[in-house]
Amino acid sequence: MEGAGKHYGILLALSLAIITGALPCCSSQTTRKFQFNIEWKKVTRLCTTKQLLTVNGEYPGPTIAVHEGDNVEIKVKNQIAQNTTLHWPKHVSIRHGNRHFPDHLATSEIPIVFGEWWNEDPDEVEKRMMLTGAGPDSSDAYTMNGLPGPLYPCSNQDTFIQTVEYGKTYMLRIINAALADELFFAVAKHTLTVVEVDAVYTKPFTTTSITIAPGQTTTVLMTANQVPDFTGMFVMAARPYLTSVFPFNNSTTIGFFRYKNAKTSTGKPPVDLSRLKLQNLPAMEDNAFATKFSDKIKSLASPQYPCNVPQTIDKRVITTISLNLQDCPENKTCSGYKGKSFFASMNNQSFVRPSISILESYYKNLTTRSFSSDFPEKPPNSFDYTGGDPLTQNMNTEFGTKLIHTSWGLATGFIVQNGQGPSQSMLPPPQDLPPC
Ligand SMILES: *[C@@H]1O[C@H](CO)[C@@H](O)[C@H](O)[C@H]1NC(C)=O
Ligand SMILES: *[C@@H]1O[C@H](CO)[C@@H](O)[C@H](O)[C@H]1NC(C)=O
Ligand SMILES: *[C@@H]1O[C@H](CO)[C@@H](O)[C@H](O)[C@H]1NC(C)=O
Ligand SMILES: *[C@@H]1O[C@H](CO)[C@@H](O)[C@H](O)[C@H]1NC(C)=O
Ligand SMILES: *[C@@H]1O[C@H](CO)[C@@H](O)[C@H](O)[C@H]1NC(C)=O
Ligand SMILES: *[C@@H]1O[C@H](CO)[C@@H](O)[C@H](O)[C@H]1NC(C)=O
Repeated sequence: MEGAGKHYGILLALSLAIITGALPCCSSQTTRKFQFNIEWKKVTRLCTTKQLLTVNGEYPGPTIAVHEGDNVEIKVKNQIAQNTTLHWPKHVSIRHGNRHFPDHLATSEIPIVFGEWWNEDPDEVEKRMMLTGAGPDSSDAYTMNGLPGPLYPCSNQDTFIQTVEYGKTYMLRIINAALADELFFAVAKHTLTVVEVDAVYTKPFTTTSITIAPGQTTTVLMTANQVPDFTGMFVMAARPYLTSVFPFNNSTTIGFFRYKNAKTSTGKPPVDLSRLKLQNLPAMEDNAFATKFSDKIKSLASPQYPCNVPQTIDKRVITTISLNLQDCPENKTCSGYKGKSFFASMNNQSFVRPSISILESYYKNLTTRSFSSDFPEKPPNSFDYTGGDPLTQNMNTEFGTKLIHTSWGLATGFIVQNGQGPSQSMLPPPQDLPPC
């Protein structure tokens, strides 16, 4: 996080699926072309209408489906006044013929993108955050494929409903595009089999619920094998996993799986929502569940998808990742925790964005002017990295634009050590974490 108060453009979440099945296959050098128009569109949620940033008028944005090895050419036309950043969460398909996921099992794919809705202009939320040093004001709703669902005011019509057929297995491609909240997701009565996280196959495991971090993708298989009640519907739900002192909205987005041909189905979500049971969904403070879940994520490490981790180490870097509480400058009001400002740092260095991008300055040989190469390769001061009371310690950080130089082609592996508390854990491990 930064305090500089600059505007860095708006982030659009799209989804990128590397697939092998559904596209005409597979000449060695296929180029797939896409045209994206970035444009404003009026959208109403929670009885509030506002302009929303869309790709080709879609919210959430479209899926890019390509084969591994394809070239992708995307023409982006920015039709709004601001600079914009596009972000593609990445998924891989479950390959046909892979013995772990036989063809007949996974029949169709269902994208489920979580997001957040602010009645206010999110740019204003960001500006205020930069000004006051507090976290962003919490959103008014979590959304599932852009829809908050009936637990929010004014939202009965804005509910995600997906039809499924009894006996079939579905591949749910889940993306967390919420701003900062890790989320729990579960489907009443159904179990989920996790097979992929962040575009890397995992050893399949079944679970009643998943934990998913912001920006993360997870693919789960779900078999529609339950007998529905008179509604013909099963609720699916997502809500935050409480991990920090940042303000957050204590609320739940829900949608429904509707069983096709269920005899008594009304085709509508149940009317009496107060009696709705969010089965399988962990409580927001359920640290034990989140820890157990992340412990289960392992590389597939099969002969076909081996876990290749570099065995020789050229350079070791120890990095502490911190959420800092910066003392408030004199004569300024800070609204972060305890009247201070939130910052983030690595090895006590909070990154200050250079006026020109790092790649551009590298290209133009301006490196010495915009940043220095003296990023600390270990924490400058040692402290109890796994515990202690943060509020009695000096939580300030230093600011700079420092880099570590590595030689071209150097492979990088991360080993992450968690602390004991819920706010001291990384969830889940990065895709290139060694143990397999
Ligand atoms: C967009 O970015 C370009 C290049 O960095 C910059 O020159 C321009 O001022 C920016 N425009 C806005 C509206 O921020
Ligand atoms: C959370 O969402 C609910 C439902 O939209 C809303 O009424 C409430 O104000 C939100 N809470 C916060 C802290 O913003
Ligand atoms: C969330 O809100 C509900 C109802 O207002 C309350 O019972 C519960 O304790 C809250 N949970 C958290 C984690 O704040
Ligand atoms: C803070 O305000 C006081 C009173 O107006 C002034 O004397 C002092 O110089 C200010 N300090 C800073 C760092 O601006
Ligand atoms: C940057 O430096 C390299 C090596 O000295 C040189 O080959 C290249 O032309 C320079 N690039 C620019 C844009 O000046
Ligand atoms: C980080 O830097 C700040 C500012 O120089 C300093 O006060 C603080 O003690 C440092 N903390 C650690 C853990 O090195």
